[in-house]
Amino acid sequence: MADLRVTLCGKELKNPVIPASGTFGFGREYNEIYDISALGAVATKGLTLLPRLGNPVPRIAESRGVILNAVGLQNPGVESFIANDLNWLKGKTRVIANVAGSSLEDYGAICARLKGLVDFIELNISCPNVKCGGMTFGVRPENVEEVTRIAKSACGDTPLIVKLSPNVESIAANARAAERGGADCISLVNTFTGMAVDIESRRPVLANNTGGVSGTGIKPIAVRMVYEAAHAVSLPVIGMGGIACAEDAVEFLMAGAVAVQVGTQNFTDSLACLKIVEGLGAWCDRHGVSSVSELTGTLKLW
Ligand SMILES: Cc1cc2nc3c(=O)[nH]c(=O)nc-3n(C[C@H](O)[C@H](O)[C@H](O)COP(=O)(O)O)c2cc1C
Repeated sequence: MADLRVTLCGKELKNPVIPASGTFGFGREYNEIYDISALGAVATKGLTLLPRLGNPVPRIAESRGVILNAVGLQNPGVESFIANDLNWLKGKTRVIANVAGSSLEDYGAICARLKGLVDFIELNISCPNVKCGGMTFGVRPENVEEVTRIAKSACGDTPLIVKLSPNVESIAANARAAERGGADCISLVNTFTGMAVDIESRRPVLANNTGGVSGTGIKPIAVRMVYEAAHAVSLPVIGMGGIACAEDAVEFLMAGAVAVQVGTQNFTDSLACLKIVEGLGAWCDRHGVSSVSELTGTLKLW
């Protein structure tokens, strides 16, 4: 049986499969369906300093091959997570705390609160900066570098993963900006901004009008971006975007990812992550690959 272990920022994961932030809560509901200690890590729902109720409904909708969401970072707040969920989750697998903020100070404060408590901090920089007219932190390379630097200085020894937005001019430039800011790892892609219209009511399907697009339909764009980002920096990369099966995960690994995250597919099949762990092992065995880590970056260009 192939060795599925991978090493991320000096920490061993039992396999490279991680449920993506916002699609797995803190793992409790999925753990009623299967033992989530089978997973390499869990990326938590995006945490903010204070609890948030999120956006008005409807805030999630299906479209062909994708979904749109504008959940608006509903979460119980970082203190509730630390008090009620963190220790339980740590007993299961590696914990990636996904964090969000609306100012640079927010990001610094939440990273300082979580440092040393979790295995990794993942910075969601696809959030509007209230002090800059609502432009998201993740658009301009100079802002990516700045928020990364502030987060990194608050993280202590806890590795910092910067999760890049795909709604940018150059993913390579933004990956390099995260590296300059001191990121230990990058993850991508977050959702693509989109809109779908209910033609009977002539209204957008989401009450927020626009939302983030995710799911199988985005996969080729995500693979291209992971490939470009991985070749622009010397940091480890976590790839995601539309992964639905083990073969999809292999594509991301070959494009340069060390590990993968699986998001929307958890809604289609609650056993998705477990099946991808098992499928990766089987794929490696069928292809004579003794360790899954050998696949990273093995893509051969034409
Ligand atoms: C309902 C929903 C909520 C999400 N919430 C977050 C979040 O809180 N923080 C974050 O960084 N990404 C969030 N994401 C983005 C996913 O983690 C992931 O980057 C994206 O969906 C692409 O992967 P997928 O196509 O496998 O879903 C969310 C996605 C969905 C569908």
